[in-house]
Formats: sequence, structure tokens, C-alpha cells
Amino acid sequence: MRKQLSLRAIQIVKSSAELITLNDTKITTRMYEILFSKYPKVKIIFKDAPQDQYMKLAEIISAYAVNIDILEKLEPALMVIAKAHVRLNIQPAQYPMIGMVLMQAMEEVLGEKATPEFMDAWREAYKSISYVLIEMEKELYLQRRQKL
Ligand code: HEM
Repeated sequence: MRKQLSLRAIQIVKSSAELITLNDTKITTRMYEILFSKYPKVKIIFKDAPQDQYMKLAEIISAYAVNIDILEKLEPALMVIAKAHVRLNIQPAQYPMIGMVLMQAMEEVLGEKATPEFMDAWREAYKSISYVLIEMEKELYLQRRQKL
């Protein structure tokens, strides 16, 4: 897992921002379909998630693409997500599963626009955003334990 993205991945992800924004709800809707069919057990964690959950995920993915080289701007939004995750006890080991279904949904929705190079860049970007969230969540879990 690494935080630093390659210049090439930054360029690709940034230049795909419009394409992702245009398709964001399609991608995330498809992602949840794949997630719940491949991993039905995960449904229970999302049982209280608001109806607009997929929109929120779409928003952050688009924002990530636009702000990929100025991530500090996204920190407040990422902290809101980290807090929601910690409330539900989300663990680092669950990140690859979400990454896999997200990448599959992107490939399906974007079709031939999702070239291997494009997908590699997004895989890198997903790992990077995961790294940031996991670090924030670690800190929040620690604070929670210290309060007990
Ligand atoms: C880079 C990866 C991820 C991103 C960008 C992401 C994004 C988000 C966002 C934007 C929200 C809504 C937060 C809010 O405003 O309330 C959210 C909530 C949630 N996420 Fe994630 N997430 C990621 C990874 C994961 C993983 C690995 C899981 C584990 C299964 C997960 C499970 C959930 C659940 C269950 C909620 C719903 C919280 C509720 O009930 O309100 N997420 N996530």
C-alpha cells in the first residue's frame, strides 16, 4: 500500500475526471449490485446506509479525480467518511474487496474507454485513497480505545 501516486497515474486520473463525473452514479450503482451479489454477507453492514449512499461515494470519487494532486483539500470530506466507517467498525482488510468491485464496475460501465493503462491508474488511485482513509481510521480507533 502506498500513498504517493505516480505522475502518470495522476495525469490519467485527472484527465478522466469528466468521464467519471458523467458516469459516477452508473458506476457506483453497478458497484453495489456486484458487491451484494458477490458478497451477500456485506449487505448487513449497509443496512442503515442512507438511500443517497451511492451518490456520496460517486461524489468523493469524482472529487478525488479532480483534486488528485491537492489531496489536503479533500481531507475534511475524507474525515467525515472515516468517522462513518469507524462507527461501523470497517477494517483495512475490507478495502481490497470494495476496490475489486469498484474496478469491475468501472470497467463494465466505461467499456472500451477503460483501457488497461486507465484501469492501472485508477487501481493506484484507489489504493492511495484507501491508504489515507485507513490511516485516519486507525487514529480514530485509537482515540476511541483511549476514551474507554
Ligand atoms: C476508498 C474506499 C472507500 C470510499 C471512498 C468510501 C466512501 C464512503 C462514503 C462517501 C460514505 C458516506 C459517508 C457519509 O457521509 O455518511 C461511506 C460510508 C460507508 N462505507 Fe465507505 N468507502 C470506502 C471503503 C469502504 C469499505 C472498505 C467498506 C467496507 C465494507 C465501506 C463501507 C461503508 C458503509 C457500510 C458506509 C455506510 C455508513 C452509514 O450507514 O451511513 N466503505 N463510504
